[in-house]
Amino acid sequence: MNQWTDLFLAMPMPETWLHGLLFIAFGLHLLFVLLMLGTAALGLLFFMHTWMSGEAGPQVWSKQVIGTHLGLKSLAVVLGVAPLLIIQVRYSYAFFTATGLFSYAWLSVIPLLIAAFLLIDLLGHKLEARSWLAFGAGILGVGALLTVPAIFTGALALMERQFLWPRFAENGFTLGVGFLPHWGLRYLHILGAALAFGAAFHLFFSTEKHPEKAPLLRKWLFGAILVQAVIGIPLLFTVATHLNWNVIGAVSVGIIAASLVLWVLWPASPPRLGAGPRSLLALLPLIFVSMLVTRQFLQDRFLAPGHAQEEARLRERSDALAAYQQQALAAFTLKLKTVYDNGETIYTGACQPCHGQNGHGDGTAASRLIIPAEDIAAIRADRDYIYGILKNGTPGSAMPYFRLYEREKLERLMDTLSQRFDMFAPPQKAPRRTGSQSFSIWANTCSVC
Ligand code: HEC
Repeated sequence: MNQWTDLFLAMPMPETWLHGLLFIAFGLHLLFVLLMLGTAALGLLFFMHTWMSGEAGPQVWSKQVIGTHLGLKSLAVVLGVAPLLIIQVRYSYAFFTATGLFSYAWLSVIPLLIAAFLLIDLLGHKLEARSWLAFGAGILGVGALLTVPAIFTGALALMERQFLWPRFAENGFTLGVGFLPHWGLRYLHILGAALAFGAAFHLFFSTEKHPEKAPLLRKWLFGAILVQAVIGIPLLFTVATHLNWNVIGAVSVGIIAASLVLWVLWPASPPRLGAGPRSLLALLPLIFVSMLVTRQFLQDRFLAPGHAQEEARLRERSDALAAYQQQALAAFTLKLKTVYDNGETIYTGACQPCHGQNGHGDGTAASRLIIPAEDIAAIRADRDYIYGILKNGTPGSAMPYFRLYEREKLERLMDTLSQRFDMFAPPQKAPRRTGSQSFSIWANTCSVC
């Protein structure tokens, strides 16, 4: 369990680029996730507010808010694909391990999202006609929707804590101090952010026609930011071991900006209707970005040791394999160069069946021939003559032609015939001794001519 990846894969672009891309892609995704979650929650809350307070007035505003949920939802989901794909490439081992360990919850994201979207749609459609049905659908739909970030934060928190993997694999969900408080607070922090950014979004973009909702939204925004501080401080304690000046700097910017937001929205202060909310347009993005950066710094610090360790392992392994790699490569090149139809192999495959291993014409197929295969070990011949035989065969006998071999191959074959049988050596004198009788016959009859 201490390897980051088993594959020696090259990255499609430099690490820092991939990192930057992940940051941007995730930031965009998170922004729309927050707006979507916040919108769903606010739509339900306002519906209940109007319904329960007995204000029989039209639910137009809630309907409109829930209507915007549809667009935000599409953007959140579509923009989620990019960070998901990039994280799989960049942190494949950690990501897949965490989602594998978390598999039941991870896969339940799909039914949860489907149920949430259908139920929230139902809420939107039944707001006025059937309030009870809308209420039930809204509670279940928003509940299902808000469960999804719990799963995502859980998977990410687990991904960042490699030391918990073996324990998690063995015992599953344990109420570990190293995990649960962090996870719970991180999740609540996401919900708080969703309420804050959802409220801000609607404060700026949907109160034009319904200005009466603005004070309520402002209260929500104020409350949500306040709650964020209450959740954020203990959350920081759960990552205390990984704090450094980068993290502290980034989070401080966010805290200062959040304090300014509280100051701007302070309920007791005289209403700053005009200028007040405008400054939010700068402060809220500042909070978002600084918190995103904080989160990134922390994640980098969590993931860095494992990443470095795996890179070292990878280097070590490729160094260890380098020697064998050279060897294997050399063997392979040799194999590529080796000529399999050389003289020896051609003889064994193409001649031996008839002429036999030692050339005496006693191969395995020889007994079936009517004209016996020649004892080629006994032949003393001219090289060109043999070449002609090999090229043309001996018509009328079983001796085939070997035109399919190019000249070079036949030359190598003839080298073999030469080495094995001395085929091209000059003929030796007959070993027989000439007796006196044959000598007198020769003297009397042949020598005359
Ligand atoms: C199907 C059986 C068969 C195969 C396979 C075969 N030969 Fe022959 N070979 C013969 C026979 C039969 C003769 C005798 C022909 C004759 O009597 O004229 C012969 C004759 C020869 C001769 C003598 C020719 C001469 O004119 O004196 C040589 C040399 C020879 N073979 C070489 C080879 C070589 C080298 C190969 C393999 C590349 C080979 N043969 C494959 C059956 C075969």
